[in-house]
Amino acid sequence: MYRLTGVTKRYTRGKETVEALRGIDLTIEDGDQLVIQGPTGGGKSTLLQMIGGLDRPTDGSVELDGEDLARISETKLTRLRAEKIGIIFQSFNLIPTLTAQENVETALVPLGVKPAERRERAAEALRSVGLGERLGHAPAELSGGQQQRVAIARALVKKPKVLLADEPTGNLDEGTRDDIMALLEGLWHEYGLTFIMVTHDSSIARRAPRLATIKAGQITLTEQGDGQRFAQQAAGQDGGPQQAAYGQQPYVQQQYGGGQGY
Ligand SMILES: Nc1ncnc2c1ncn2[C@@H]1O[C@H](COP(=O)(O)OP(=O)(O)OP(=O)(O)O)[C@@H](O)[C@H]1O
Ligand SMILES: [Mg+2]
Repeated sequence: MYRLTGVTKRYTRGKETVEALRGIDLTIEDGDQLVIQGPTGGGKSTLLQMIGGLDRPTDGSVELDGEDLARISETKLTRLRAEKIGIIFQSFNLIPTLTAQENVETALVPLGVKPAERRERAAEALRSVGLGERLGHAPAELSGGQQQRVAIARALVKKPKVLLADEPTGNLDEGTRDDIMALLEGLWHEYGLTFIMVTHDSSIARRAPRLATIKAGQITLTEQGDGQRFAQQAAGQDGGPQQAAYGQQPYVQQQYGGGQGY
């Protein structure tokens, strides 16, 4: 579980100081989904970087399972990121000279996984996002939606506890966006991930079980409904009410690959 207390981030450039985050307090339970929205420049990506241990706050603490990411050593932080945190970006961030499979394998290198096992697990992860037929393709030989699937496989191949996504559908058309959302929602539920996503897309934000709005570095939280129940419905495990928080849109009712073995 995450516990953020008084998280402040100041960027200083010359004489100018930008206070990107101003005292964020936030708790995120294991297995929860949190969607973050807000105006451009409000501090969304900065917050995600603090949560992902990609950068450290100027003040405050970012505890993940009792360890303060703001204070642990760089070595420990790198290790923790490699093991526990998968990240997906709007621009996919794939390495253009590597195949889909090799791109996914890169996430396992810092964990010391042997090459043969890396290849096998990367192929399995790509199959689980529906790309089993594209292992040898370079990013340029894939569509935008397929590239994002490779990035998702790369984030998940290490079996992380936490999945972070910064506008993962920002570069995709609406149909592809829905496919990727269905995939992410399905994986979130199937693997019990703690899933934190930044989006500009109000149709995604509206449907989130828990919504954080970040404006001028400050946070407002809104509980919008029973996200767990929605996810269980998607997996067909819920004996209870079948009314999903996501309304009519069949985001997670589509099929998303086998995904065994994570
Ligand atoms: N490395 C940096 N150095 C200086 N200022 C920065 C840096 N990164 C972000 N900022 C500033 O911090 C503020 C918050 O930026 P951030 O990227 O978190 O916004 P955002 O909410 O993600 O915006 P967007 O929706 O446009 O992605 C902005 O005013 C930005 O200019
Ligand atoms: Mg941003």
